[in-house]
Amino acid sequence: MIRFSAPAKIHLLGEHAVVYGKPAIISATNLRLTLTLKQSAAKTKQTKGVQKIQKAIERAITKKYKVKIPPYQIEIDSQFPLGSGLGGSAAISATLTGALLKLLKVKADLKEIYEIALQGERAIHGNPSGSDLAAVTYGGTLWFRKETPELKVFSQITLTSPVALMLLDSGKPEESTGEMIAKVAKLNASLKRNIFDQLELLAKSLATDSRDIKQIFKEANNWLVKLGVVSKNTQKLISLIEKSGGAAKITGAGGWKRGSGMILALGPQTEGREPHGTVYHPNSEKLEAFKPIKIKLNQEGLRAEK
Ligand code: MEV
Repeated sequence: MIRFSAPAKIHLLGEHAVVYGKPAIISATNLRLTLTLKQSAAKTKQTKGVQKIQKAIERAITKKYKVKIPPYQIEIDSQFPLGSGLGGSAAISATLTGALLKLLKVKADLKEIYEIALQGERAIHGNPSGSDLAAVTYGGTLWFRKETPELKVFSQITLTSPVALMLLDSGKPEESTGEMIAKVAKLNASLKRNIFDQLELLAKSLATDSRDIKQIFKEANNWLVKLGVVSKNTQKLISLIEKSGGAAKITGAGGWKRGSGMILALGPQTEGREPHGTVYHPNSEKLEAFKPIKIKLNQEGLRAEK
């Protein structure tokens, strides 16, 4: 039995903009997905999406290492919902790549795993930036930029403000990430450029801790609404959060028709943290009815499990 796990990611900033060469700040959380693989001729039934990922990754491994992959079975167990903006397909792609390479006794570093797993992401999303996969593979908090489809530049950053965050469910998006990327692609070019320029400025402010995160989240949300990736229902939920004293935004591709996936909101001040401006929600208990999930940032990326 081979077991690998990878974290859920959040986009603190830069979702969608990152597809167009703008920076994103992404962090690996403490919620994890575990994939268990065993050699077996009996197949387990997987969703169409997982089957697509499997095919693409098997093809990439066979091509690169000139090996034959024996029949195998996988089981996926996730602490976070899939298809809700938390990088589920990236986590499946990374863990499956890690597990298959171990089964084949191929030694590969994280960069090689990333390159192969990216084929899984591409099979699902069409033209992903690769930022989800970078966060779930390498972990930590990354400043990420896609310069060209093949050249991604990223480095680990430390957020100086002690940011407390939580996730609230706005409902599973009807659209896939690929469909949301395609929706954005249809927008007027100068409108897109303007929105992405503003989002880049916000990302720089967050990375350099030069502005209040509550204000940054509010402004980012306004731009994402203009981009058409935040549904009416989600906008209502976010304005309710704002009225209660907090701030929130989508944290991935979003969704337009119904839900926009898990949204990222300022959480309660946690013990031991220095009170610092509005890096936390002063009345977060008002949001208890939405069953918020408190998350930790900056966690470990892909790892082999016992
Ligand atoms: C999805 O989690 C983030 C997007 O920016 C897509 C991508 O980066 O590939 C919407």
